[in-house]
Amino acid sequence: MQTITSSAKTDKITLDSISNPQLKIWINEVAKLTTPKDIYICDGSDAEYSRLCDEMVDSGTMIRLNRSKRPGSFLARSDASDVARVEDRTFICTRNKGDAGPNNNWTDPAQMKETLNDLMQGCMSGRTMYVIPFSMGPIGSPISQIGVEISDSPYVVVNMRIMTRIGKRVLDTLGNGDFVKCLHTIGAPLRPGQKDVAWPCNKDTKYITHFPEERQVISYGSGYGGNALLGKKCFALRLASYMGKQEGWLAEHMLILGAESPSGEKTYVTAAFPSACGKTNFAMLIPPPAMKGWKITTIGDDIAWIKPGKDGRLYAINPEAGYFGVAPGTSLRTNENAIKTIAQNTIFTNVALTDDGDVWWEGLSDTPPAHMIDWQGNDWTPEIGQKTGKKAAHPNARFTAPASQCPSVDPSWESPEGVPISAMIFGGRRATTVPLVVEPRDWDNGVYWAATIGSETTAAAIGATGQVRRDPFAMLPFCGYHMGDYFQHWLNMGKNVKNPPKLFGVNWFRKGADGKFMWPGYGDNMRVLEWIIKRVHGKGGSTETEIGSIPNHKDLNFDGLNFSEVQYKEATKLDRDEWLTELKLQDELLDKLKDRLPKKFFEIRQALQSRFETKSNSSKTGSMNVMI
Ligand code: GTP
Ligand code: SPV
Ligand code: MN
Repeated sequence: MQTITSSAKTDKITLDSISNPQLKIWINEVAKLTTPKDIYICDGSDAEYSRLCDEMVDSGTMIRLNRSKRPGSFLARSDASDVARVEDRTFICTRNKGDAGPNNNWTDPAQMKETLNDLMQGCMSGRTMYVIPFSMGPIGSPISQIGVEISDSPYVVVNMRIMTRIGKRVLDTLGNGDFVKCLHTIGAPLRPGQKDVAWPCNKDTKYITHFPEERQVISYGSGYGGNALLGKKCFALRLASYMGKQEGWLAEHMLILGAESPSGEKTYVTAAFPSACGKTNFAMLIPPPAMKGWKITTIGDDIAWIKPGKDGRLYAINPEAGYFGVAPGTSLRTNENAIKTIAQNTIFTNVALTDDGDVWWEGLSDTPPAHMIDWQGNDWTPEIGQKTGKKAAHPNARFTAPASQCPSVDPSWESPEGVPISAMIFGGRRATTVPLVVEPRDWDNGVYWAATIGSETTAAAIGATGQVRRDPFAMLPFCGYHMGDYFQHWLNMGKNVKNPPKLFGVNWFRKGADGKFMWPGYGDNMRVLEWIIKRVHGKGGSTETEIGSIPNHKDLNFDGLNFSEVQYKEATKLDRDEWLTELKLQDELLDKLKDRLPKKFFEIRQALQSRFETKSNSSKTGSMNVMI
């Protein structure tokens, strides 16, 4: 094995020059186990990034896009078996099984390490082992945390460079301190003389494993997104949620946005929606023209680390530095800011390639180009699409782009102390039952609301899509410990923080009898957000319902939008029978977690039941019941 020490233009970091003793030992241990052909320590420079991209273009892993259309940008196509997170191969390995909870797959840590050790013998043979020091959060911020990812995938290195802060400056900040160990391998050793493939991975065996008690992640077999960019879901959510529980803070699957009112008042809001349910879109929202004077700024689009401040409020930072966003559905109409963000210096994965060397995906334009190469590398025409049902882009195709390129990025998006949060919104993707917006009656009821959210599954994870499952706080796949303890932690936060934000529920995805979304969504979500902000400031009318306060048609601003009172009532109605069924569905989750479920939840659940039982079902015809 040979250690690559430098390339001509990059700052050289040799293994010998690494002063952190733990890091040095760990690198040597991993190299001994995985037997890479060489070791490369990433400095994070532009030159290093360009060199790795060039190498991947030469090896066929990436395609350089037309420089005049999409400067500095690349397309990667993954193996067809490696297109999304693998939830059934994701494990939380705590010493005590109960601590992982029924919401996680669990294996004893010693046993899991034995399995992984066997699998990882020689797993990097023939490949370079990259060492990627990274910071989640601005380098040096008291809220930030340092990790080191070891990976045998150059695709991971270049994506990590966009998604986090990496390289020499991180190593310098780390000094002799502790760091989170993130070990990643695609699990595809190369025998001498064996020809590599464009997207090496292990088609049969995948393990995404977490050892929260030792703050360690080991990921085997996949090169895609959250399975491989270990700073993201593995560290910033699964491990960090566990740390937050121990230390009194929160790591959440939430966007963070700033809303500036026409009078110049700024309110910061977070929102938790499950994967592929609208976080990136909401974070970059452009208000409709009729709501002149409102401006939305983006702090983060996926993850929030939230800590109590000295003034008794909750403060949030975005631990990431880029967006790993869903491509399909992204267009100038739905998310102009995202389209501008990805105009250059962007890595696209599993989108279609146009004949002029640019990218396309379903929803980018109404009419697809006449010919393209689809995400699997085959010819695609609208006719082929129609005949075979094949999409040009994979439904979980993604872009990786620097946050600094986003036109709506908030001036304080890298502020080390974070931004004070006034409202937290919780939503899911529900065709029925759940109204457009509601403000649960208090913190505890808001926590219950968030805990019992149902959402239709999406292409962000392998498995069937469109099935309603409970996704508490949009954290079902990301909570690193028992979900019952997590709910209790949230109830405690509300008590321990003097000035907690107000909690809200939303559903942009309710469908009418015609099968179409009732609510226009996207920019028009500003109308709902405006009401939420009014409520934060003690204004905004509403009607009390069984589940909390719901605005009346007159309480929302419908300027410039044709949305009648009848349509609005449909979008906000609470149907007694649907809700009695919904409560039963919630019971399935609560029952699963009952050994550690907060007692408070049973009270809230019972109160909801009795309110709905005594409700007359006049709302079926669209009129709202006044209840308390
Ligand atoms: P992850 O990155 O997987 O966590 O997803 P996300 O929550 O950031 O979702 P994103 O904003 O990327 O949206 C996912 C899909 O939902 C895209 O196809 C969007 O076009 C669509 N979408 C987003 N907002 C809305 C909305 O308000 N209404 C409707 N109907 N669709 C929306
Ligand atoms: C999600 O699935 O919520 C994502 C994409 O944000 S991934 O990074 O793959 O988890
Ligand atoms: Mn996400």
